[in-house]
Amino acid sequence: MNAPIPPRIRDAWYVLAWSHEVGRKPIVRKLYGEPITLFRASNGEVGALVDRCPHRGVPLSGGVVVGDRLQCPYHGWEFTCSGRCEAIPSFLGDPDHVGRRAQAHAVREQQGVVWVWGRAGAEPTEEPFHFEYAGRAGYTEIRHDVQADATVHAVAENALDVPHTAYLHGGLFRNADVRNRITAEVRRWHDHVECEYIGEPRPTGIVARILSPSGGIVTHYDRFFLPSIVQVEYRIGDENHFVITAAGTPADDYDTRLYAVVALKSRIPGFVFRVLKPLGLRVFAQDAVILAQQTENTHRFGEEVYASTEVDLIGPHILKLMRRAERGDLGPQKAEPWTRSVEMDV
Ligand code: FES
Ligand SMILES: [Fe+2]
Repeated sequence: MNAPIPPRIRDAWYVLAWSHEVGRKPIVRKLYGEPITLFRASNGEVGALVDRCPHRGVPLSGGVVVGDRLQCPYHGWEFTCSGRCEAIPSFLGDPDHVGRRAQAHAVREQQGVVWVWGRAGAEPTEEPFHFEYAGRAGYTEIRHDVQADATVHAVAENALDVPHTAYLHGGLFRNADVRNRITAEVRRWHDHVECEYIGEPRPTGIVARILSPSGGIVTHYDRFFLPSIVQVEYRIGDENHFVITAAGTPADDYDTRLYAVVALKSRIPGFVFRVLKPLGLRVFAQDAVILAQQTENTHRFGEEVYASTEVDLIGPHILKLMRRAERGDLGPQKAEPWTRSVEMDV
């Protein structure tokens, strides 16, 4: 059965690679199913061209970088990072012509991340997301990317969903038999939504014990920023601050790559990271399995039918924002967010 098409937000930035992955040898990444080749020109600029030569359609990614241009492997046409054709061997006329341009995506490279605008040939209307704690003094940082067979929405909801942690990841964060009543406050702006958990004691799972052996007051925020960025922020006591920010990239409608930047301040950062990375990857592996099953069922039944309660705090808001962004209608930018408080047991 055909699965529904999830929101596609074209006019936005997506991470297609870490900076160190892009060199003179072209690589191929996908965005909404479209293959894009990334290469680094001799002047250091990164090009993102749709991986199809305008001449006879062969993949440009099979070519080589010559100076500041990517040369097609078939007849040697050469394209700049902006897609302009500047050399056609054996042709005596002017190589540049609108019909001979490769389709190019706008690129920004910042904080070690290569961002690509979602619509080829379009001028970006804003700048990419800034990772607030990346490279900040006093913080240890780790970067990692993972993949899930699921929509950006499902991956984002999963990353910010608290109630599943006691079940799918039982014992790692929270335990199903240890319950605490807390208040969650949801705040939604025109382009992001935030959930603050008030009165949460330090969770009882292994991860939390490592982060803060002596307990302490927990401050916990979950956030989603359009088009696809999730952020989980924990402060435990005065000394421990943990911010994981991950940008989701829809390689395809049901194939999402998450580029995560984790920043941590702790009394014992080296030790914490050595232990946390494998644990984090184990947690994500459990999430990836359940997300793939969710996707498989969407395909099996040909539809997504979800029943929600108030403690599905953030997922419905993410979907609402994504649908608005897809329509290009985010509504007015108000200073005061839409707000709701929910009592829940975690
Ligand atoms: S197909 Fe690329 S130059 Fe001919
Ligand atoms: Fe999870």
